[in-house]
Amino acid sequence: MEQCGMTILVTGVAGFIGMHVADRLLGEGRAVIGIDNMNDYYPVSLKRDRIAALQQRHGKLFTFAELDFADMDALKTALAGQTVEAIIHLGAQAGVRYSLINPHAYVRSNLAGHVNMLELARERRERHPVYTLPHPSMAAMTCCLSASRTAPTIPSRSMPLPSAPTN
Ligand SMILES: NC(=O)c1ccc[n+]([C@@H]2O[C@H](COP(=O)([O-])OP(=O)(O)OC[C@H]3O[C@@H](n4cnc5c(N)ncnc54)[C@H](O)[C@@H]3O)[C@@H](O)[C@H]2O)c1
Repeated sequence: MEQCGMTILVTGVAGFIGMHVADRLLGEGRAVIGIDNMNDYYPVSLKRDRIAALQQRHGKLFTFAELDFADMDALKTALAGQTVEAIIHLGAQAGVRYSLINPHAYVRSNLAGHVNMLELARERRERHPVYTLPHPSMAAMTCCLSASRTAPTIPSRSMPLPSAPTN
């Protein structure tokens, strides 16, 4: 398919959600630059199969960069000279129990890496409109806040129950 729209950066593109988001965008004729570090939290072969499927289905519309977005230099090098009009940030260390086994993976991807993505968006905003979706880890917070009409930080008020599952 010919490109008919913006180029979108999708992080976590080898992941369950990232792959399907990229597939949908590519199917609509948008170019996608996908980033993933192919970590082994679950079988890497599954992630490689997803990337191969995107490449096979969408050809040149899809560009894949295997890198860790916690590495700002690698991120900037991979995107040098590329025009990105929107960022969909779905790359993350998912799961909860695994944080007890490998807490550093969460710090690297969900804190350092997430800040890198925000900084990338901020840097590029001067020349291109860049949209970032709220990070999934914050989506849980949004669900929680949506259950209350007032801020949960008011000392006299207890936190509302989350309106979505938290595990
Ligand atoms: N799948 C669900 O049902 C669900 C539900 C609610 C929220 N979420 C959240 O949505 C996000 C994506 O979920 P998913 O199911 O697609 O997870 P996933 O683990 O399948 O995909 C995440 C991808 O991000 C990549 N990644 C992680 N750290 C990276 C880094 N530093 N640099 C580059 N790539 C990196 C991983 O290799 C992986 O392919 C997660 O934050 C998850 O917590 C998922």
